[in-house]
Amino acid sequence: MTAHTATETGAPFVPGQDPDQQGFFGPHGGCYVPDPLLPVMREIADMYALCRKDPSFQEELDRYLSTYTCRPTPLFLAENLTRKLGGAKIYLKREDLNHLGAHKLNNCLGQILLAKRMGKKEIIAETGAGQHGVASAAAAALMGMTCKVFMGEIDVKRQQPNVLRMQMMGAEVVTVTRENGGLKEAVDEAIEFLMRNPAVFYLIGSAVGPHPYPLMVRNFQSVVGKEIRTQCLALEGRLPDMLIAAVGGGSNAIGMFHPFINDVQVKMVGVEPGGRGSKLGDHAATLSYGSHGVVHGYHSYVLKDENGEVAPVHSISAGLDYPGVGPEHAMLRDAGRAGYAPVSDLEALDALFTLSRLEGIIPALESAHALAYAVKTAPGMPKNAVIVVNLSGRGDKDMPQIMEMMKKKT
Ligand SMILES: Cc1ncc(COP(=O)(O)O)c(C=O)c1O
Repeated sequence: MTAHTATETGAPFVPGQDPDQQGFFGPHGGCYVPDPLLPVMREIADMYALCRKDPSFQEELDRYLSTYTCRPTPLFLAENLTRKLGGAKIYLKREDLNHLGAHKLNNCLGQILLAKRMGKKEIIAETGAGQHGVASAAAAALMGMTCKVFMGEIDVKRQQPNVLRMQMMGAEVVTVTRENGGLKEAVDEAIEFLMRNPAVFYLIGSAVGPHPYPLMVRNFQSVVGKEIRTQCLALEGRLPDMLIAAVGGGSNAIGMFHPFINDVQVKMVGVEPGGRGSKLGDHAATLSYGSHGVVHGYHSYVLKDENGEVAPVHSISAGLDYPGVGPEHAMLRDAGRAGYAPVSDLEALDALFTLSRLEGIIPALESAHALAYAVKTAPGMPKNAVIVVNLSGRGDKDMPQIMEMMKKKT
């Protein structure tokens, strides 16, 4: 393994900046990959740097974002929920209305256009909730590329609708059975496949992984925060007081937060999966309970056992069930610019039903975590305060899991 060290002048990292040349956001990030993968990462970083400066790349991406993804997504005032809670106004950023039902496509389209410019014909991806797998399968179909998606065995079972959707769009779903059969293991397997097949393009689904992925994914997802800015100014004549997003690897949250980093009056809260409780193995709340470490090619906070090994994690939500977290979130937490808090499985489930019944919107279990935090926080805030919750996805994929849980209860 070649590990880069934090470089530069030793000056504190300023939130909102790009990471340094080696991908460090302060002490977090970097490119901790086995030597054979270093040139692969460098090639992607070089091509991304070129595309970022090329207006034709952004024009092509914008065209797909509007005509294929259906952006901009609306900012919806949840009046019934606001009235019931009796405090701050709650707006929902409707990422659930994107084509395929989640924010994941914003990033997939960006990365697949990059892969196309690199002459790639084959992509691989990992997925937990299946939303990134579905978005990757669609993007690959659109570009005429082949697609292989690694998915943990427990997630294949609990997110069946998405497995079928991936297959319908021509992707091969590889069930990963090792260890806990979850998202971490799916990423492990994808990285090993990339080691053996460095010509494929690994389309990473969150703001994690070795440099340049956390930077690229943040920038591709920043369309969410940019739209919220414009929409909130139009609707309220000012910026929101609080932004709330669920944090798995951290892509929907960083995409929402990034355009507001310099507006220090805007509070930013990342909501982590608190699962069944604070005991190791019962949650996946990395920033709340983890410590510094390296996982999947980057330095950040990691949930580790007493031997320093990456620990098993649990969440009701397949998309949040991950023992690491994007390095930029780790930096934002250290800098105190964003706060991170856990929400339990039951609180998330409760929020899912509350929104379904009050507003006729069934959120994904992941997004229900963000919503649960808003439900707890809004009543203590003044009525003229504005909260925006990133409704990162819709709950269709969770129906079989929820029906199963309801059957057990009756
Ligand atoms: C709907 C939805 N929201 C949130 C997430 C969490 O991922 P991230 O933290 O990268 O946004 C997922 C992951 O699959 C998801 O499907």
